[in-house]
This record gives sequence, C-alpha cells and structure tokens, in this order.
Amino acid sequence: MRTILITGGAGFIGSNFVHRVLEHHRDTRIVNVDALTYAGNLENLAALEGDSRHLFVRVDICDPEQIGPVFEEHRPEAVVHFAAESHVDRSITGAAAFVRTNVLGTQNLLDASQKTGVGRFVQVSTDEVYGSLGAEGAFTESSPLDPSSPYSASKAGADLLVLAAHHTLGLDAVVTRCSNNYGPYQFPEKLIPLMIANALEGKKLPIYGDGQNVRDWIHVQDHCQAVWRVLEAGRPGEVYNIGSSNEWPNLKIVKKLLSLLGKGEELIDFVPDRPGHDRRYAIDPRKMRDELGWEPEVTFDEGLRQTVAWYVSHRDWWERIRTGEYLRYYESQYGNRRDGGTGAL
Ligand code: NAD
Ligand code: TYD
Repeated sequence: MRTILITGGAGFIGSNFVHRVLEHHRDTRIVNVDALTYAGNLENLAALEGDSRHLFVRVDICDPEQIGPVFEEHRPEAVVHFAAESHVDRSITGAAAFVRTNVLGTQNLLDASQKTGVGRFVQVSTDEVYGSLGAEGAFTESSPLDPSSPYSASKAGADLLVLAAHHTLGLDAVVTRCSNNYGPYQFPEKLIPLMIANALEGKKLPIYGDGQNVRDWIHVQDHCQAVWRVLEAGRPGEVYNIGSSNEWPNLKIVKKLLSLLGKGEELIDFVPDRPGHDRRYAIDPRKMRDELGWEPEVTFDEGLRQTVAWYVSHRDWWERIRTGEYLRYYESQYGNRRDGGTGAL
C-alpha cells in the first residue's frame, strides 16, 4: 500500500480525483488535506465514509505548524497539490487570500515535502498563467507566462516556486497546466454550474461583456486521468499542458445548456464585463499525448449532457451551497475536528 497526500480534496477537481484514484488503484491510500474554505465540501466525499484507504485531515496549508506534523506522521510518497483559491472574480475583489493560499501555501508544502523526502510533487496549475490569446494559436509549454488576474498571477508564482524547488533543491516536481474544467461537484460560482443552477431556478443568466470570450473545456475526469499519468510518468522539472481541443465562446455554451434544460433564451442577461477579462484560452496538448500517451475520452456533447443531468438530480447539493446552509451544517457537525468523519486509516 502506498500513501499519497492530496491537498484540496474536498473541492471540485480534488474530490473527483480522490474518488477516481480510490476506485482504480486498490494499492493506494490517500491522506486528504483540506481547510474546508467556502469551496470545500465534505459532502463531495460522503460516499467514502468507512473507507480505510481515505483519511480526511482538516488543515490550512498556509500554516506550517499544521502541515508539518501531517507530513511527519504519514510520510507520503507523493503529493498532488490541488488546494487553491480558484475563482478569478473573487481574486479581483480580494487578492490577499490568493497570495496567501496559492503562493505561501504552496511554499509550505514544498518545504514539508523536502524535509520529509517526498518522492514526487505534482503542482496542479492552470493555462491562465499564460494570459490571453488572440484569435489564432494555442498555449504550448514554452509560451511565456503573462497572467492577467490576481488568481492567475498567484498560480504563476506558485508554479515558479515549484520549479525552483526542483532546480535548486532537487525536489522531484512536475507542473500541470489545464484548461477550464466542468463536471460534477463544481462550485456553482463557475460558468457552467452557475448557469445550470440559475436556469433551474428561473433566474437570469449573467453573461459578461459580449459573450464571445472563448474557453477550452475539458471534462474533470479527463483532467484527473491526465494528472495521474503525470504523477506516474511525467519527467521531473517539466511542465505539461492538459486540454481537450474543445473551444467554445461563452454565449454558445450557455445556449447549449438552456437547450439541454428545455429553457428559453430570454433568461440570458448581458452584464458589464469582468475587469481584465482574458479573451481566449486554448491548449496545445501534444506533449501529453506524444510523451505520456494521454488522450481525453469524454466528448463535450456527452460530458455536458451528463453534467446537466447531475445538477438536475443533485439539486439538494447546490441548493444547500447557495443558501449557505452547508457552511453552518459543517461547523456544527464537525467543528474543528481533525478527522472530518469520512474514514480513518
Ligand atoms: P475549488 O475551489 O473547487 O477547490 C479548492 C479546494 O482547496 C477546496 O476544497 C478548499 O477548501 C481547498 N483550500 C482552499 N484554501 C485552502 C487552504 N489554505 N488550505 C487547505 N485547503 C484549502 O478548486 P478546483 O476548481 O477544484 O481547482 C483545484 C485546482 O485545480 C486549483 O489549484 C486550480 O488552480 C486548478 N485548476 C482548476 C481549473 C478549473 O477549471 N476549475 C482548471 C485548471 C486548474
Ligand atoms: P469561470 O467559470 O469563472 O472560469 P475562468 O474565468 O477561470 O475561465 O468563467 C468562464 C468564462 O465565463 C469566462 O470567460 C467568464 C465567463 N463568465 C460569465 O460570462 N458570467 C459569469 O457569471 C461567470 C461566472 C463567468
């Protein structure tokens, strides 16, 4: 049995990753470190209750006093670092939390990894570190870093700290940079789940600017599989871009969602643009394919259909989040208990 430490495993991508790894890799146990910020939700992990291969530990990665003992106790072979402040709009109105978690938190994890001899550190990052594209082209791993928002700037800073730990201290570290994810358990502040939830409640769907900003969408399961491949076979000190070659303007996606939900386009509401709004992202995924043999498997039509169906059948999940009820629930249910009740090793 080998132990890997995951950060941010109660969030959207992290929880999908935890489920996937426990299902497909019987020889792996996971120490899941998460502070349970507004974006962390133990409900995402409820199905793992009683699974002895999953230990949830409520810890803030910004505090080395909390992080150090977890590394000392469990001596993980590898770290997969998902924890972050992840929403661009929040970073525009409150950058400090992004610097704290994304930059300082990452350095604390690097320090603990170095100290306890972690064999591999995977930094889960974003294509947003490359900034915005014009109408043509795609980001490669050698595209210059040119982040636009405090979110992407803090992720770029963290990526550089990870690569510096490799270069200077010899830590075996790899960086992944993925495009926009969608799928189950995504917090309903991001485009796709927000639009689905609003449409189901008959609320307006706020489109920033002209709705022609382009994102390159990938299903979360394809991203998780790619991160696993990088963990297994990525070369130390390398960066790997992850994407599905699936570009869509926002307005077209929103219209697709309305059609899947059987709702009318009168719900669409054009609102003032996001400040500094990146116009277009697109990933060149050739390195992942040629070097690691990874290919995405989920088509956008099928993935979007499944995602809409998931939000329709998990209305209680996102309604609780949107009323803030789940925050109160977890405080009263778990407080600051170290084991969130989802299983112990
Ligand atoms: P998320 O916001 O859904 O989840 C983040 C998780 O990190 C939450 O569970 C939260 O409680 C935890 N966390 C936040 N601050 C913490 C702290 N100080 N200590 C411990 N835990 C903390 O984010 P996500 O969408 O699942 O993204 C996960 C990672 O993937 C992030 O690093 C993000 O930059 C990256 N990424 C996301 C996307 C995307 O489309 N969502 C695309 C590419 C890369
Ligand atoms: P988002 O899901 O926040 O991801 P990111 O900004 O990290 O790419 O937004 C995706 C796109 O959707 C982006 O171009 C901004 C746009 N958007 C809207 O038009 N309205 C909204 O309410 C939100 C949240 C996003």
